[in-house]
Amino acid sequence: MSGDSRVPSGAGEPLEAILLVGGRGTRLRPLTISIPKPLLPTAGVPFLAHQLARAASCGVTRVVLATSYRSQMFAECFGDGSSFGLELDYVHEEEPLGTGGGIRNAASRLRSGPDDPVVVLNGDILSGHDLPAQLDMHRKADAAVTLHLVEVTDPARFGCVPTDDNQRVTAFLEKTPNPVTNRINAGCYVYTRRAIDEIPPGRVVSVERETFPALIESGQVVMGYVDNAYWLDVGTPEAFVRGSCDLVLGRLASPVVPTPGESLILPGATVYAGATLTGGTVVGAGALIGRDSTVEGSVLFDGATIGSGARIRGSVIGRDASVGNNTVLDGVVIGDEAHVGARNELRGGLRVWPGIELDPLSIRFSTDE
Ligand code: GTP
Repeated sequence: MSGDSRVPSGAGEPLEAILLVGGRGTRLRPLTISIPKPLLPTAGVPFLAHQLARAASCGVTRVVLATSYRSQMFAECFGDGSSFGLELDYVHEEEPLGTGGGIRNAASRLRSGPDDPVVVLNGDILSGHDLPAQLDMHRKADAAVTLHLVEVTDPARFGCVPTDDNQRVTAFLEKTPNPVTNRINAGCYVYTRRAIDEIPPGRVVSVERETFPALIESGQVVMGYVDNAYWLDVGTPEAFVRGSCDLVLGRLASPVVPTPGESLILPGATVYAGATLTGGTVVGAGALIGRDSTVEGSVLFDGATIGSGARIRGSVIGRDASVGNNTVLDGVVIGDEAHVGARNELRGGLRVWPGIELDPLSIRFSTDE
């Protein structure tokens, strides 16, 4: 312990976290044009609500949100955090400082002493891992940083993180076709406060490319806590839809989804006779689902309208967007206030930008051609 009695590190005592939410979320465009990724409606609430509620249930008492892109929206959404039983504070980066720079910038608001553990979370991760066990490993090893590692079937898509027999991280390796381990960085860290203060201030720093390799190089203790509980990075449209559906279905328990089921229909939505909603579909507030349509494993934002006889699967329908009668959508993103006319078929990752009208009736052929 640091001797600073404000934030002791034992169980049941105050524990601080930094939540990294400053990214632009480009892989989720066009959904992230108007709203940052961590605030996208997910299983009926802003995505971060799941992370905040879970952090609180794991003993976190105070969170500093490291914001940059559309900063003001975070405080508007979560205020002082009292509804989660948390104390929230917000810091802003005028220019995004990267993951390490964002953590360093947020440190100015921490109250923890130099020897206290501080949890750091990427703001786009759904995880059911045992955070108290990760903290326990960190304390016992007296580590500078302890990373949550998850084992994946396709490690070549990620950088990988080998460990020795004592779970000490031996390297932080870039993406390669032949990874030496299937363990990857899961985006939840426990730092000893003093290791945060050692990150250079006022410039862009990447924890993955700079901070972790430098800690390992200099012989500091970096531990890898392996836990294969539910884990998902919701950075792409497919993963975002999957995450929302998994929460609705109860595949990952969330304190803010009290009753899991096949679908979640928010207040003020209208579902007409014969419509079927399955696979963890969310129907946003004020949305309208037409007669005899089927919606499977999809996310419909507030005010979305689906015509009768439509078939929607694995898709996101933006706020106040509409889809015409008998149209088929599979694995697509329809931006806010966009309109897809009747009897269309869109598949395979197609993205319709906000406000776009996609309607056969709007296509006109010139008689001169
Ligand atoms: P993409 O543009 O789609 O890659 O998404 P992203 O901008 O969110 O980047 P990435 O998924 O790599 O970010 C991981 C986490 O770090 C997310 O929660 C981001 O919000 C956060 N993050 C990324 N860059 C910054 C930054 O410069 N500052 C802060 N404060 N957070 C960041």
